[in-house]
Amino acid sequence: MNEIEQPTPSASACPARSGRVSPFYHETIFDELADARAGEPVFYSPETDCWVVTRYDDVMAILHDHARFSSENTSDSATPVHQDALDIMKRGGFSAEKVQSNCDGERHTRVRNVSAQMLNVRTFALLEPKIRDLVTGALDRLEGRGEADLLADLTYELPAQVLFLFLGIPKEDTEKVKAWSGTRTILNFSPSTYDQQVAGAQDMVDYWRYCVDLVAERMANPGDDVVSGLLRVRKGDDSVITLNELTTVVYGLVFAGHETTTSQLTNTFRALLTWRENWEAICADPSLIPFAVEEAFRYFGAVIGWRRRALEDVVLGGVTVPKGGQILLSFASANRDEAHFDAPERFDVRRKNARKHLTMGNGKHVCLGAPLARLEMKIVLEEFTRRFPNVRLKPGAEIKHAYTYVFNAPKSLPVILR
Ligand code: HEM
Repeated sequence: MNEIEQPTPSASACPARSGRVSPFYHETIFDELADARAGEPVFYSPETDCWVVTRYDDVMAILHDHARFSSENTSDSATPVHQDALDIMKRGGFSAEKVQSNCDGERHTRVRNVSAQMLNVRTFALLEPKIRDLVTGALDRLEGRGEADLLADLTYELPAQVLFLFLGIPKEDTEKVKAWSGTRTILNFSPSTYDQQVAGAQDMVDYWRYCVDLVAERMANPGDDVVSGLLRVRKGDDSVITLNELTTVVYGLVFAGHETTTSQLTNTFRALLTWRENWEAICADPSLIPFAVEEAFRYFGAVIGWRRRALEDVVLGGVTVPKGGQILLSFASANRDEAHFDAPERFDVRRKNARKHLTMGNGKHVCLGAPLARLEMKIVLEEFTRRFPNVRLKPGAEIKHAYTYVFNAPKSLPVILR
């Protein structure tokens, strides 16, 4: 995985503000985006071939304008895929389609209606006791230790284990699936080299086959998991959802259902511990935890930018985006737009309107797993504040991030536990 150096927050107090903003996650991105909102709210980014939209109102308007903006490019490879990699995928029978997040119109509505029957507050709530067991088990393993890397030791595997309970995937497969998901982050959301594409193509074939086998197994042996539930909704009827579409939904979930939650949980700890009075506030009053979760989504969202494509020439912020042009909706910027959030650079669990953040999108495509992510984060913070109230960031620790313009995905979070 390509990585960039990411100094600790204290080191970034005086960011350099020069040149045009790079939308890739980097140390000073939030300050640079603030300058862009003020001076050049829509700008072209050559390294991503996207027009970056930075103001909250513009981002929100695009999320709701399905006549002029398409979602079909949300997961396209950030670098054109080399024919050798495409051949590997074709030979391996990779046949994921554009469904759900990256499709539009009637098809999106049809597929979303199927998934929403399994991905909803009611089904997620049933998981609560099991999530709590997983969290307490993970925290038991931290007992007696003076230091930990909260990513490696807690937030890396936990969301995958929750999702696997939901999908009925064996726990032993966690490592394999997390590795495939890391590859998918590089291929779809970061610039990739020829070697990464070729190696990654084989991983994607294995990942796809894993999903095909999972669906076939649940057809033979239905259970009370999500895949079996989706098959029950389908009732063998292609007009509801085809088997390949359903497998693609599973392929999407096996990624979307944990990678972002891993990052969001890590970012939440980082924000709370950096703005320490907020950590102490939630330890003293756990009823503030749901507000802390929303403020962390706003302040340090795991998704910093999400793509759309212009279906016609459109004028945005005085700039013409040509038909077919790619747009990067900068959630990182919109979430700190001073027109909507007072003192947006402050992390404050008592902020009244944090829930207006756009980290999970908005409108027809809004994240279907949002209630699950919120539930997991709430449980983790409830249990962690009880067990390790004195936790603090390890001074001087270096935090690296994945090199991507889609995610704020830290690679570690060293802390002192006691
Ligand atoms: C912190 C965690 C998460 C974040 C930040 C996040 C963020 C997002 C974003 C930005 C979108 C695209 C919205 C758009 O295009 O307008 C999305 C879509 C989606 N997410 Fe999440 N997500 C998270 C967790 C989850 C989980 C846990 C699941 C499943 C269990 C999930 C399933 C989905 C699905 C199925 C879609 C596609 C919805 C559609 O296009 O109809 N996500 N998510």
